[in-house]
Formats: sequence, structure tokens, C-alpha cells
Amino acid sequence: MSVNPPAPVSFILRCISCGREHPATANDLVCERCGSPIEALYDYEKAVGNARRIPSNESIQGVWRYSPLLPINRKTRIFSLGEGGTPTLRTERLEEMLRMTRVFVKNESRNPTLSFKDRKSTVSVSKASEFGARAMACMTAGNAGSSIAAYAAKAQIPAYIFTIGGISDSKMAKLLSYGAHVFRTSSPTRDLMVFVQEVCQKYGMMNLTAASRYNPYIKEGAKTSLFEVYEDLDGSLPDWFIVPIGGGGNLTSIFKGLRELKLMGLLDHYPKMAGVQGKNCAPVAEAFEKGLSPDLMVIQNPSTIAHSILDSWAPDGEQALRAIRETNGLALGVSDGEILDAMKILSSKEGLFLEPAAAAPLAALKRMLTLNQVGRDESVLLFATGSGSNQPEAAIQAWDNPPSIELDLESFGKFVGR
Ligand SMILES: Cc1ncc(COP(=O)(O)O)c(C=O)c1O
Ligand SMILES: [Zn+2]
Repeated sequence: MSVNPPAPVSFILRCISCGREHPATANDLVCERCGSPIEALYDYEKAVGNARRIPSNESIQGVWRYSPLLPINRKTRIFSLGEGGTPTLRTERLEEMLRMTRVFVKNESRNPTLSFKDRKSTVSVSKASEFGARAMACMTAGNAGSSIAAYAAKAQIPAYIFTIGGISDSKMAKLLSYGAHVFRTSSPTRDLMVFVQEVCQKYGMMNLTAASRYNPYIKEGAKTSLFEVYEDLDGSLPDWFIVPIGGGGNLTSIFKGLRELKLMGLLDHYPKMAGVQGKNCAPVAEAFEKGLSPDLMVIQNPSTIAHSILDSWAPDGEQALRAIRETNGLALGVSDGEILDAMKILSSKEGLFLEPAAAAPLAALKRMLTLNQVGRDESVLLFATGSGSNQPEAAIQAWDNPPSIELDLESFGKFVGR
């Protein structure tokens, strides 16, 4: 797919803690003064001009539609697989069931490698190529790695992918098929993150782990899902956004999109952001409840059926929690049973085949309704981040085994109630 978007308006890279500015070079991926994440900030006034809409190239669908607010230079070759441009769906059956008036699902399972990670990868791999990276590395619970591997194949840059925990055959099949160098590990998230960062430094690779803590360009692609929702709903955003949290990068990116809308005068107040994790793997939710810093939260013996968010430590947890607090939102953990139930509802009532991590927002919404944390008259958007095909074993576990039958018309009657 050939994409030739317009150049971005000018941007700077600034540390989110100490404010130090950095040049946009391959060596400036975290703050050299304090080690905090740095992020791209654009000339928002110039970007929006007199228009009351998000600066975009309307002839392009998907992530690159928003190239004026993406940090890629005009001469860069863009590596795209047609990511983004996913639908914001109204869910009548869910609304009826929950007795709510407006519930939307942003269906990110429609992306090229079946998760929202492709938004990040198209930008970060294109940027790595712009920097002339000879190799890239990434730690992953499966989806981020599959996505980087696909774009690395497109860009023909070697990718070294370190998987954490046990990952499904379908994720491994993708990783291998795209030709990545894959390494299995059973180390805790934080140790592996440190290792990957050290590998990158020692062997001259670009760290594309899907957390903005290590690379400012990671945030940029993911924020475009928010821009799409804004345009799909004619600027009228729902009261709540419910987003699954693994490393915290996606929620942080969506919030950056919200901040940018506000800076461009296109939004006057933020939706409340709710972050959802697995109950036994909830460093950010625990930090939220206890008033602690997510950086200090490491979960021992983590477990959740939502394998894609099985992060015992959240590298972008600090930023995610700041977004949650700033929007008067909340963070919570949900059980495997609640997640399986949500998957079944989304697939059988709305036709959405989602992996457990992507169904977790519905599990959270049900819980929030029970606890009166959300009103039935409030509108909600569920971020469905990845396809059921990323972890099909969970769907098999959720449903009864189908019967084997003989080809006998009479005895078949019992299956159709006659
Ligand atoms: C399907 C899915 N949902 C949610 C997440 C969580 O995103 P993040 O790690 O940016 O919090 C991931 C990846 O980590 C994922 O693959
Ligand atoms: Zn700093």
C-alpha cells in the first residue's frame, strides 16, 4: 500500500517531567537529563488554523489521514498495511441489555494484524526507517510483536521479538510467518523490559516496545483511534471511555489525542477514562485504589485469561494513571469469569469476535453499573483492542463443545425442539 501523506506541522520533543527539549534523533528516545519519557508536541494553533476540525488529509482513510499531527518527515517512506479506519459501532443489543441509551464499540480487531498495535507500528517502524535503523527490538505479550514483525517485513528491517509468558499458537504463527527473530522468555515484565533496553543499547537496535516510556513515537499512531471516534461521532464524545490496560500505552495515547483536541480548541471537557485490567494482574488498578505510584507496583504471580494484558508491571502506568485522575475516571480489575461472560455477550449479541483483553471493557462496564460508578443515562465507548483470533483458545473455553451427530433426520429433531 502506497501512502504519501502531507508533512507534519512542526513539532518538538519535550520531557514530560522536567520539560527539557530534545532534538528528533535516533538517540533521543528518553530524556537525557532525568530519564523520563519525552513526547512530541506540535504547533497546534497552526495545525488547526481557522478550521473547526482535526487537521487531516481527507483523501486518506486510517492512521495517515492524520499525518499533520504525526512526527514523520515528508521524505520518509511510509510503511503501511492499511491500518486504522476502524468502525465506531453502536450496540443496540448491549444497550437494551444494560438499560443504557448509548454504548459504542471501537472495533480495533479490524486492523491488519488483528489489533490496535498496527497504529503504533506503522508510525514507529516508518520512523525507525527514517532514522536508518539497522534492527529493531520489542518485548511483547504477542500482539505488539506480531504487529512490529509485519511492518518490519514490509520495511525489510530485522526485528528481534522477545515474548513474555506463554503466547497462543495464533500469535506465534504470526510472529514466525512475518520472519521475525523470536525468543521465548518466562521473565517478569519489568526484568524483560530492562533487558530489551540493554540489548538495544549494546547491539544498536531501536526499541519499539509498545510503551512510550522507551520511545516517543509509539504514542503517536495510537492516538489516531481517538481522532477517528471524534470524527465518527461528529465531535460529540461519550461520557466514558473504557480501555484495557497492559503496559498503559494505549490509554496514555488516547489521552494524548484528547489533550491535542483540547489544545486545538475542538474539545471543552474530557470524557472520563476507565482503565481495566485482570483482577490478579492489576498494577495500575491497585495503585489507583491505594494512592500509590504504578512505577512501584510489581505483581507477584500474575494471572489473567486476558493474555494480552498480562503485564505484572506497567511501563506507562504512571502516565495512564495521571490521565485517569485528570479525567475523574477510575481503574479496576475484573475476573476471568467476568471477561469470558463479556466475550460471549459481544460475540453472540453484537457479532464481535474479540479476545479476552478486548472484551474486558464490557466486563468493567457491567461492574461499574452495579457499583453505580456510571449512570445508565451516560454514554460509553468500549475500546475493543484485538480479535478473538489472537487467543482462540479462550473462546473455545467460553462455549460448550458442539455435539457430534449421525446424519439421521429423526434424531436431529431434538436439536431444533421437535
Ligand atoms: C488486545 C490488547 N488489548 C490491550 C492491550 C493493552 O495495551 P497497553 O499495553 O498499551 O496498555 C494490548 C497490549 O498490550 C493488547 O494486545
Ligand atoms: Zn526530563
